[in-house]
Amino acid sequence: MTRVLTFGTFDVFHVGHVNVLLRAANLGDHLTVGVSSDELNMSKKGRYPVYREEHRLAIVKNLACVDDVFVEESLELKGEYIKKFRADVLVMGDDWAGKFDHYSDQCEVVYLPRTPEVSTTDIIQSIKERLD
Ligand code: CTP
Repeated sequence: MTRVLTFGTFDVFHVGHVNVLLRAANLGDHLTVGVSSDELNMSKKGRYPVYREEHRLAIVKNLACVDDVFVEESLELKGEYIKKFRADVLVMGDDWAGKFDHYSDQCEVVYLPRTPEVSTTDIIQSIKERLD
């Protein structure tokens, strides 16, 4: 059995999110997703997510391609999470290309291309513009 692990905020869930999760799931038999905590998102992106942690977890957890979810509390703990969830494959978006290669002694590291022209940041921006 091949176990796949991936991470993300998955705020204002969109088609880029479902695409990366489907592709990650297709790389193995079991997909675990680390969903960034609200505090981690604040430190990473300088803003709190629109959807709070429990809601983002509930959305991701209930996707047919996802087997297990947990809250990612720190970017520094990836190695621990790989061990804990016995990951054979770590999947990241190619916006992180090369940044996680040092985990290749623990598991295979795969970077998947992002879906073009969609992001949570752009969706939030376009909603703001519509309201102005
Ligand atoms: N992702 C993707 N294609 C997109 C947007 C996101 O494949 N168009 C992937 C990311 O590479 C990551 C996962 O979805 O593996 C979660 O990304 P996240 O940062 O939550 O989404 P973004 O839309 O990139 O959010 P933001 O605009 O806030 O950075």
